[in-house]
This record gives sequence, structure tokens and C-alpha cells, in this order.
Amino acid sequence: MIPKSFVQDLLNRLDIVDVIERYVPLKKAGANYVACCPFHNEKSPSFTVSQSKQFYHCFGCGAHGTAIGFVMEHAGMGFVEAVEDLAKGIGVSVPQEASNTPQHKVAPDLYELMQTATRYYREQLKKTPRAIDYLKGRGLSGEVAARFGIGYAPDDWQNLKPAVPNYLDASLVETGLVVEGEGGKRYDRFRDRIMFPIVNVRGQVIGFGGRVLDKGEPKYLNSPETTLFEKGHELYGLFQAQKAIRAQQRVIVVEGYMDVVALAQHGVEYAVATLGTATTPYHVQKLLRLCEQVVFCFDGDRAGQKAAWRALENALPQLQDGKRIGFLFLPEEHDPDTYIREFGTEAFEAQLDDSLPLSGYLLRELTAQLDLHTPEGRNTLLQKAQPLLTAITAPTTALLLRKEVAALAGVTQAELEALYAIKPVAAPQRAAPAKAKRAAPSGLRILLRCLVMHPELARELPAEWQAEGQEGAAIAALADWLRESADETSTAAMIQHFQGTVHEAVLATAQGEVMQLSGEFDVAAEFSGVLRKIRIDAIEAEIAALLAGNLGGMNKERYSRLSDELKQLKAPAA
Ligand code: UTP
Ligand code: MN
Repeated sequence: MIPKSFVQDLLNRLDIVDVIERYVPLKKAGANYVACCPFHNEKSPSFTVSQSKQFYHCFGCGAHGTAIGFVMEHAGMGFVEAVEDLAKGIGVSVPQEASNTPQHKVAPDLYELMQTATRYYREQLKKTPRAIDYLKGRGLSGEVAARFGIGYAPDDWQNLKPAVPNYLDASLVETGLVVEGEGGKRYDRFRDRIMFPIVNVRGQVIGFGGRVLDKGEPKYLNSPETTLFEKGHELYGLFQAQKAIRAQQRVIVVEGYMDVVALAQHGVEYAVATLGTATTPYHVQKLLRLCEQVVFCFDGDRAGQKAAWRALENALPQLQDGKRIGFLFLPEEHDPDTYIREFGTEAFEAQLDDSLPLSGYLLRELTAQLDLHTPEGRNTLLQKAQPLLTAITAPTTALLLRKEVAALAGVTQAELEALYAIKPVAAPQRAAPAKAKRAAPSGLRILLRCLVMHPELARELPAEWQAEGQEGAAIAALADWLRESADETSTAAMIQHFQGTVHEAVLATAQGEVMQLSGEFDVAAEFSGVLRKIRIDAIEAEIAALLAGNLGGMNKERYSRLSDELKQLKAPAA
């Protein structure tokens, strides 16, 4: 666990303008910096960076966050990765907080050990004609083998012994390089295999896949899940492919190590592979952050078909309107490796351009083997479609697919929504803040703006402070958070803390508003003004309630206290 105070401190030391400029050129515009948004396509810049508040906000697509959030979004990194990357950039190391789940601690020497092993396996490849011939036989050049760091683990029980400082060290077992048998006897996990290093987005080796050269079981042996390596989070080849994915705005997801490598050999550099697991929602999210189009291209066999459907199911909750997901089904006897070797790059890319859009694939599978001329067939369709349609949150996509399925089943969209007990698709969310902006902002909204500018002000809220609605809840959460931490805080730390919570959306709206406020917004005056107004409203409400009941002795006392306070609050300042 990275200590919270370190994250705050890091955000204080970084300048978000420098961080973003490493990826996107910024232009000064008034108090802020602007650029065309890297997260959606646009011609005029609505991506805005506040240097004084250390956050960014896109008025086009709603993307928002701190320097850490930006690196996560832009480079597809996880939180820990992003923090480590940014800390390294300014030459500080990330402290580790003792936690009760020690396996989450990643000692840097584990990475070093993996690097040592990678180097060793690569050297062994150079010395082993049989392994070189195998790779050549599969059409790989030395350059591509080097690009992926491919190596060879010799056919011995303790290959790594001379390569590492201490073969008996716990780290060897911890990284999965070595297996400890019964009686404590140790031996290498990978023996007589072609070694494919699995690299994270920062270029660190976190695991290996090892393939037999001849026939043998298992064909591929993989590193176990370790503190470094979580299969459902990683994609083979992503580190090497990142640049091409951005340039092409497209990524292909394939099944195998060799598929990624063979595609790269043929100039298709934007391919990644899942690591012997199904495509997870996390994978899809990571890839959709990087580009506009994700194409799943699995093997033409039954297993490939099943993998494609699993990918579809896991992609549904991650869909974003305007981003495309496609499915490419190769002829049954092929995988991407054999296909591109037999038919070439052009033919493969033509297939990609022709890939089946997610909606087409979804409807095709839903209606397969159903007779929609019968009520039973249409009934089955509605049953099968329910979990899938319900999982989609992207408004336009959800709307269009509901309409399609409803039409196929011969019901109306409203009937389908009632049947599934789902809310009608609302207008896209972006319309809402725009409308709200025109009306005079409520007291709570003004309060939120003040708190976004100076989170510390929340300490001045009354201890029992409560208010209704999402804004009220966000303010209460903010006040709680400050009460729990003694440290000085900043806007960026506040945004980072609430990233991914239920309060994120409300705060993001306020951040956008703050970005657009002119210099004459006087925070101190607004804050005391709005607190006063909120107190007046509360007193008036309570008085109204008291008056509606009968004024007993106790209540009468309360009433007179309240009306005195009200009189004072309403008196013009002397
Ligand atoms: P495939 O069996 O489709 O192999 O496994 P492949 O990628 O075509 O490999 P080549 O062309 O024969 O060399 C696809 C992926 O499934 C995982 C690996 O990640 C592999 O790349 N797998 C497969 C394993 O983890 N273990 C296995 O024994 C087999
Ligand atoms: Mn293959």
C-alpha cells in the first residue's frame, strides 16, 4: 500500500502542466492551459488544465482528474504504476506502508531478478542453434525476437543457479522462476523452452511464457500469478504495441504469444494477447483508454468462438459510445499467425476492416437457431438478451440495441424496458450540466465550488453538517475526509481521493465550473455567504415545521431561539 500522505505530497511536488506536456502539447489560454483532448476526437480544444488547482477537465468528453489520473488514463497504467512512474520522474522513491496483505508489497529486487533471468535466457538462445532454428522455422527474424526479448531456457534442472546471486533466495520462488519440491529441493520452472517475457506497461518483466520446441505437454508453461504478475490485468505485447496502437487508433486482441509476435513480424504492430485467460473487463477498459477501436481476433476453432463470446460479455459494461469493438473470425483451421504467414499483411488488414461490429455479433448469436416467427422463439430471444442488454451503460449503444432487440421480438422499446425492469435510456449525461449551468446555481453548488478551490474550508462546516442530494452527500464526505486527516490538503489530493467513488461525478462537475469561473469569484465571501444562506434555509424550514405542529413549552423555547438567530442572520452587516 502506498501511504496516502505520500500521494498528497507527490501531487504537491508535481506540476500537472509538466506531466501532461510530456504527452500532449499545451497552449496557455488565460489562467489555464488548453489542448485538443487526447481522450476524444475534436477540432477545437476543450481539454483544459488548471495549473493553480492542479487538475484537468475536458469540456467535450468530461474526462477529468489529477496528474496521477492523467497518466493512468493516457498510458493505461494502474494507480500504483502511475504513482511509481511519476515519483521516478522527479527522483523520489515510493515508500511502502506496512499492510496486512504482505503479498502486495513489491520489492524492486524482484523486478531486477526477472531482468536477470531475461538476460540469461536471451544469451542462452544465442548459444542454442536448435532453438534459433525453431524460431526461424516459424518465420521470425532476429530483430523481432529481440523486440520481444525472446530467449531460451536450457534443458537442465538448475539453469539459473550460476545466473543469479543466490539460488536459495526466497525471491526465486516468489517470482515463480524456481519451484520448490518436496523436501525443499529446488529446480527451475522453465526447462528446454522458448521463453517469452511478459512485460508490464513500464517495460518491466513480470512473468514468462515458455513454449516447448517439440511436442510436449503443456505446450505453454506460464509463470504463476505472483506479486508482480496478475493475469487478468496484463496483456502480452502491450508494452511493445503501445505506440502503434495510439498511431493507428486500433488494437487487435489475439489468443497467443506467437500470434502477437508473428503479426509484428508482418508489420502489424498493434496486437496484444490475453495470457491464457478470458478477456476481462479490466483488459477492455485498459484498451479502450488507448484507442478508438478494439478488434478481437481469436482462433477459428470452437475454443476461439467461445473466447470471443466471453470477450463480448466482458466488454458490454465497458462500452463507450463512439468507440468501436469488432470481432474477426478467421477460417476454422487458422489462427492470426498462420493466417498472416499464408495470406500476408494486406489480406489480414482487409479482414480487420471487415470485422463484425459488436452489435452485429451480439444479434447474430442471440437469434441463431431461433424461430422468430413463433412466440416461443421471440420469448427465448428476450430471455437471452436480458443480461446482455442490462449490462450496457453507454447510452446510445444501449438505446440502439434495445430498439433492435425489441423490434426482433415484436415488442416496443418501452415494453422491453418494463419487462427487464430497467430505466429508459436517459439523454446522454453531458446534456445535464449544461442545462444546470444556465439556472442560478444552488447554495450547495456554490459551496461545492468553494470547496473545490479550497478543500480546507470544509473544516469550517458545522460538525453535524448535513444536506440533501448528491451534492450534500459529496460535501459531507469531503468534510469527513478532512476530519480524518490532520495534514494540509490540496485540490488535487481531494480529487485523487474521490476518484472512482460515488462522489466523483458531482465533484467533476464542480471542477469544470471552477475552471470557468472568472477572477472575481471571491471564495471567502462566497463561502460565508452560502453558509449563512444554508443556515437561514434550515432555520426557516424548522420554524415552518414547528408552526405546523402545536407549539408546546419546549418547542416554544426552540422557536424563539431560532427566530432570534434568524433575525441576526438576516440583519444587514454593520
Ligand atoms: P494455442 O494453443 O492456440 O497456441 O494457445 P498458439 O498460440 O497457436 O501457439 P503456437 O502457434 O502453437 O505456438 C493460445 C494461448 O493460450 C495459452 C498461451 O497463452 C497461448 O499463447 N496456452 C496454451 C497456455 O497457457 N498453455 C498451453 O498449454 C496452451
Ligand atoms: Mn498458433
